[in-house]
Amino acid sequence: MQVHVRAAAVNPIDWQMIEGNRRLIARRRFPFKPLFDLAGVVTAVGDQVTSFRVGDRVHADNETDGGGASEYVNVPSRLLAHAPTGLDFAESAALPLAGQTALICLDNGRVTAGTRVAVIGASGGVGHFAVQMACTAGAFVVGVSSARNQEFVRLLGADEVIDRNETDLSSSFGADSFDVVIDCVGGREQWIHAQRVLRPGGRFVTIARDEDGVVTPASAVRLASTITARRLRGAGPQGTKYIPVFLKASGVLLQRVNKLVEEGRIHAHISQSFPLTLEGVNAAIDESRAGRTTGKLTLLR
Ligand SMILES: NC(=O)c1ccc[n+]([C@@H]2O[C@H](COP(=O)([O-])OP(=O)(O)OC[C@H]3O[C@@H](n4cnc5c(N)ncnc54)[C@H](OP(=O)(O)O)[C@@H]3O)[C@@H](O)[C@H]2O)c1
Repeated sequence: MQVHVRAAAVNPIDWQMIEGNRRLIARRRFPFKPLFDLAGVVTAVGDQVTSFRVGDRVHADNETDGGGASEYVNVPSRLLAHAPTGLDFAESAALPLAGQTALICLDNGRVTAGTRVAVIGASGGVGHFAVQMACTAGAFVVGVSSARNQEFVRLLGADEVIDRNETDLSSSFGADSFDVVIDCVGGREQWIHAQRVLRPGGRFVTIARDEDGVVTPASAVRLASTITARRLRGAGPQGTKYIPVFLKASGVLLQRVNKLVEEGRIHAHISQSFPLTLEGVNAAIDESRAGRTTGKLTLLR
């Protein structure tokens, strides 16, 4: 499927790929075309494709090939979904990667009505969707963010918000306070705090690693042994479940995100939009790299 790209969004994976951080583990093809999240209009359809037509408004996390910064891009139909009704291109581009990741965090956390959930990194791209999804599921939600984002996280629906610079989960809450902790920040300390506040058998769902930076053979071995050790430790019914999540994007998963959007249950908060030009892409990537993004950063042609 060929798509004329009208808008894109930035995620940390974009600059991590550009910097070569993921060289060791990236399955992506090179030369790499920046920006995975994109929205646009279908301009050509493969012979076997029946669910899309030329002229359809679509969006995707084009996880194999990127291309959000391109004018035209080929996207496998299995990754595409029709853009939600009533959304502009930038709003559609903001959804795929972060929205799908948040949804699989909720799935892995088994979040339903009454579940007590803490979201660490509640103001970021994934976190702001996770908070809204947990709230709409009827969960009791606590967000962890810095002071400047407290009001934002509260407006997303969180029941309580704690300031990460003043306190932390285990200083603010006692044992058995949560069923699920969703970690969108990473670092060993998140796992340590979570074990103190989760109920026996509670679930720690994380999308980030203990270590930042370039994945080296040594750090990959450390990551694998850390995951194994934490999983073994949580193996019994009373143990804290350690659940690392890695997004495998799909149009089917994206349709589930879109349904929540169309029902008015979640929305993408776009804190900044850039022109979809070389300068705009560089500026958006620099902004994301600073690690202070509230909601999503988008680019519009
Ligand atoms: N495993 C996967 O499949 C997958 C998928 C998507 C993303 N990820 C990874 O998940 C992480 C988050 O992605 P994202 O798109 O949500 O990033 P993002 O949008 O760049 O997140 C930025 C937000 O993180 C908050 N933050 C930073 N440090 C924090 C801390 N110690 N405690 C609480 N909040 C903190 C910042 O808020 P304040 O400044 O207000 O604190 C900011 O709002 C990245 O490392 C990304 O690579 C993994």
